[in-house]
Amino acid sequence: MRDDTARATNHAAAREVTLLWALRSPCAFACPHCYFGTVDEHKEHPPEQAGALSHLSRTDLPATVITAFARTLPGSPVGRVVIAGGEPLDWPGTLGVISLIKDAGCQVVIATNGIPLTRPHVIERLVELGVDGVSVSLDSADPDLNDQMRPSRSGRFGHRDVLEGIGDLLKARAGYPAPKVGIYTVITRRRPQEITDMARVAADLGVDYYVPQPMSLPPGHALFTRMCHTPADIGNVAAQLDELYRDPRGLVLPDPSYAGRFIDAISTQDGGHVPECFGGARLAFVEPDGSVWDCPSDRRIAATPPDKRLTLRGADARTLFAARPACTDCALFSRDCVNMWPLVEDMPRLLSHRDPQ
Ligand SMILES: C[S@@+](CC[C@H](N)C(=O)[O-])C[C@H]1O[C@@H](n2cnc3c(N)ncnc32)[C@H](O)[C@@H]1O
Repeated sequence: MRDDTARATNHAAAREVTLLWALRSPCAFACPHCYFGTVDEHKEHPPEQAGALSHLSRTDLPATVITAFARTLPGSPVGRVVIAGGEPLDWPGTLGVISLIKDAGCQVVIATNGIPLTRPHVIERLVELGVDGVSVSLDSADPDLNDQMRPSRSGRFGHRDVLEGIGDLLKARAGYPAPKVGIYTVITRRRPQEITDMARVAADLGVDYYVPQPMSLPPGHALFTRMCHTPADIGNVAAQLDELYRDPRGLVLPDPSYAGRFIDAISTQDGGHVPECFGGARLAFVEPDGSVWDCPSDRRIAATPPDKRLTLRGADARTLFAARPACTDCALFSRDCVNMWPLVEDMPRLLSHRDPQ
């Protein structure tokens, strides 16, 4: 028996696996810091390394492969699916996939740029299907700054439409227990004040949860110096997180330990250590081409030997995730690790009831 098999645990009954499923690659936005890169740079230099993401979507799975896999979720260890991308709600097949995942008894959380929420049939279906959470991305309380960080490719959509979509969804779900609605904000080193400014916006809109998360870019990225935190930024970020947790304005936030994780993440260089990492044990990352990895960390993906690469093409979720490594110390820390905690550990809390104000 090989070492990793000896460590393997079989928790098929526990449904403790969260799938972060980047379902489709295309997106109407062209955020220059996006994990997917930008169409302009990829037209010139398509990425070739294993696990590289691209909005060009040349290898996205056919719908039949996706639905065949989703039909194998009942009775599998997967208990939660966080559907992201690319923009998942622009693809007409997504609502059908959500329906299959809900029928399988899994929690479903959608990460969206918010523009599809301005389409009435989309929000009606999200409510009807009993989607558990909708996390909307908005990166600044200032509309112009948000639209610089999150420019739409057509130039037609922006901050105002995202607020409208959130408002429409909140109205459509009135009287229903779900979906809970949240805002996710990427915090850059230049604007730590967005941590509390965006909490104010979120509370005024009446959303349920709020997650500020640190910008995560590989050190060679053109925006790394401008956007990623350095040790000199820790004081300002810590003060903002302190203020947020002292007065959450009725919003549900990740567990208070998240503030420490945020600070640790921006204080640690790549090469740090993640004790008791749940990547591969309780988290799996699925790419639009069907590749399945322990987590989205570039470093962990690069360290996965070719014979350990998995795909959900033709796979059955009941066997694909049946034998998994236990949580173990991981030496492949990347700043993105901190962004996984809210998906795995904090999600039950984020989807719980909002504190009365
Ligand atoms: C890649 S998007 C996909 C889902 C959807 N299209 C959206 O805009 O939310 C998922 C989340 O990742 C965040 N994100 C993208 N690139 C990031 C980066 N380099 N560091 C931190 N968060 C990032 C986005 O802001 C968004 O909240």
